[in-house]
Order: sequence, then structure tokens, then C-alpha cells
Amino acid sequence: MSEEKTTNYRLLPQELAGNPLKLQELLSGEAVKVAEHFKPRQWEGGDEPVAVARYASREFHELEARKLWPKVWQFACRAEQVPEPGDYFVYDIVDKSVLIVRGADRAVRAFYNSCLHRGRALKGNAAGTSTELRCPFHGFTWSLEGDFKSMPCAWDFKHLNAEDLKLPELRCESWNGFVFVNFDDDAAPLLDHLGVIPEHFAPYGLEHSCTLVHVQKRIPCNWKIGQEAFYESMHTRTTHPQILTFIADVDSQYDVFDDNVSRMATPSGVASTHLEGVSEETVLHDNLANSGRMSAADVAGIQLPPGSDARHFIGEMVRKRFSQASGRDLSAATIAELQDAILYSLFPNVQIWAGYFVNIVYRFIPDGDNHDRCLLDMRMLGRYPEGEPCPPAPPVQFLDLEDSFDKTTGLGPLANVFNQDMRNLQHMTKGLKSSRDGQVQLAHYQELRIRHHHQTLDKYLGL
Ligand code: FES
Ligand SMILES: [Fe+2]
Repeated sequence: MSEEKTTNYRLLPQELAGNPLKLQELLSGEAVKVAEHFKPRQWEGGDEPVAVARYASREFHELEARKLWPKVWQFACRAEQVPEPGDYFVYDIVDKSVLIVRGADRAVRAFYNSCLHRGRALKGNAAGTSTELRCPFHGFTWSLEGDFKSMPCAWDFKHLNAEDLKLPELRCESWNGFVFVNFDDDAAPLLDHLGVIPEHFAPYGLEHSCTLVHVQKRIPCNWKIGQEAFYESMHTRTTHPQILTFIADVDSQYDVFDDNVSRMATPSGVASTHLEGVSEETVLHDNLANSGRMSAADVAGIQLPPGSDARHFIGEMVRKRFSQASGRDLSAATIAELQDAILYSLFPNVQIWAGYFVNIVYRFIPDGDNHDRCLLDMRMLGRYPEGEPCPPAPPVQFLDLEDSFDKTTGLGPLANVFNQDMRNLQHMTKGLKSSRDGQVQLAHYQELRIRHHHQTLDKYLGL
């Protein structure tokens, strides 16, 4: 809310607002068919408090290191980060390191990043290109496909044979450019883990998705604290007040589909029920000025035609723009899928915005073996035209603890929104460790995805 606008509308007492059926009301006015899966999916997880130790204790982190990360499918990188044979990417999780390599056969494989001689990490740096995998210590060498090629002084290793020296692989499977790895050889296929996501995302053309922007930020809090800041919209009024005029924050719908997948759908192009008397012109102006999906240049000088409402006007504008950008017919797309914030979470740590264009993807992982720090990877995915190759991934814009999102390019108004989120996250660890009772409380409905995440985590941890 900008100062000069506050005279147009009134902020209501914070206790009053919230309409979880708002999305359904909006969907009932869609001119095109609405997918069945947008109906609410109730989930009851109870009202128990959550123990602070789950975020703040070393023991809990070590339990996750033993029982979660070695067993779960985890998003390691995007395929366009290893576009050509020989390209590699190092994915580190807690104290383990995985080397992802595209082979001469163009298949992407994941190897334990550990030399079979004396154990040096085969690649120490995050990404690069090699013609073979050669250990920098003594020179043991493998092909890009992990077949043993050569060693120094072979006469001295007669006790080893090439078969035993094949580089061990982890499970590595992909979905629409998302490369996942799993240390568990017996894990069910990635597609099982993804549940409803491939079906729900089928209309959005993610098979032609490419990374437009990639920012990685080190944050001084546990990885679950970081991601839970994106699991509900209720913090908008206090943390991001400038977007209330066009985001129905506390009118979001929260759904759970199975152990691994939940969804938050926050209508946009309508004012929050925290506000009274917001004009359609204000909704339009503020939405266009702050949208993460359009740049300021795209929307300069746009006026609301008489008799139009902002949500439909923006929706149709987005439909036209995204059709042109992607070359796809979007006439069957709902306004909701064109512009609302529909955010799916995939256990344990990935969140993907649904929709036809510019899908934001968040991933939170522990920062090495430090349970009080995490790394947020934030990507924006666009589309490339059919029949053309996927453009290479842009360089990662890395932000350390003290760095603000203002240093990044490509995030537009979202940089400010992320800075606002970081102002909370930097104080979470101190606050949690200062809790007298060692527990925190959750809203029954609006924070159910947080509770759901903990319940799935318990299944991995055996709690
Ligand atoms: S540790 Fe790799 S070649 Fe010796
Ligand atoms: Fe936020």
C-alpha cells in the first residue's frame, strides 16, 4: 500500500478477515472449464503445538541426516545446468556430495562424488565441463558414463579390476527438466513420489521450461523454517503490506493431496479482505506495479477500461502476453491459472508455482552440515519454443548471509518481497532458541501444510 493510496480504502481490524472459499467463488465465474482438482481437498492434522527442537536442535538435524536425506527424492539441479555431454554439477546435501554428469550418450547420471582410490571428491567445484572424470589427486580416471578408464602405475593395483572400479551411481530421474537424485537404490520411482503433480501441471507446457533467473541465498535459519515462510499467505498483512491491494492473502485455499504434495492457492487481482473500499483502478495499478510475472515496461500506461474489473482485465492481458511468448494457444486457460499464486509443495523441500508462464521454484536445503543455516534456491522458469533447444541456464546469482536481494537482477518487484521475508528469517533462530516452552503454535487451517510436512517427515524419521 503506497501512502498516497491509503485514502482510497480502509484497513480493517486484523481479527476479522479470511474466506477460504474465495477461490471457489472466483472459479465459479470462469468462462472456461475448471479442472476438478481445484475443488478443496480437506485435511485434518489436529492442533498440537510443534516442538522447537525440530528446527533448532542438532540431534534432530542428525536424525534427518541419517533417515531423511538418504531415503528421499531430492531436486538436485535443472537439466539445462548440464546441457551438453561432459557438463557436470555438484549437488551437496548435508555432508554428502553427488556428481551429476551428462554422458556422451546424453543421459544424465548421478555418481557418488568420491574417488574409488583414496576418496577425494572427484569434483570440488559446483559446475563445469570435462571430457572424462579424472581425479585431481593421483589421476584415477573414468569415462563420463562412469566406466573405469585408467590409473597411475597399474602394475601396483593388480588386486583391482575394471569391473570393481565402475563409479557407483545413485538413482537419478528427471521430470520436465527437474533432475532428482535418491541415495536409496530401492526407492519407488520418482513419478510415484510426484503424485498428482505431473497430471495437474500437464497443461502448463513445462516440458519446454527453461531457467530465466537463478538466485541462491544463504539464510541463518533451519531449512524447514525457511521453506515454511512460503507455506502460508497469512503473513502478508504484516510482512508484505504493499501487496494487500491485489492479493487475497487470508482468502487462500490450502489443499493436501498425499504425503508428498500439498497446495496453496492465493487469488490475485482482487483485494485482500483485510481491506475495505479498494477501487478496481487501485487493484490494477498495484497489481501491475508489483507483479512478479510482468515487468514495469510491459505494463506502463495501462488503464482499466470502463466497466472492467481488474482481475479479468489482468487475466486477459496475461493470456495474450503468455500466448505470444510461448507460441501456445491459451484460450482454455482459467484466469486463476494465468495469474493466481498457486503454489505446490513437493516433500521434502521443493515448491513450484503452477501456471502457464514464469513458474517460480523454491528449494531449501541445509547449508552443509550446519542445522542453523540453509540455502534458498529461487528459480524463475520460462518457456522456449517447440523445436528449439533449451537455452543454457543463467549463472547463479549467489547472495551470502548479509546480502540483500537488491543485488540481484531479473526479480523485479519480487526482490523487495524476498527482502521482507528475510527480515523475519534472520531472527527466527534466535527467537526459537529463546522459547521458554520449547514449542510453537500453528493456525488450524492456514498453516495446515506446515503440520502436514512435519507429519510426512515423521514417517521418514520413524517418530
Ligand atoms: S584419491 Fe583419487 S586418484 Fe587418488
Ligand atoms: Fe512472504
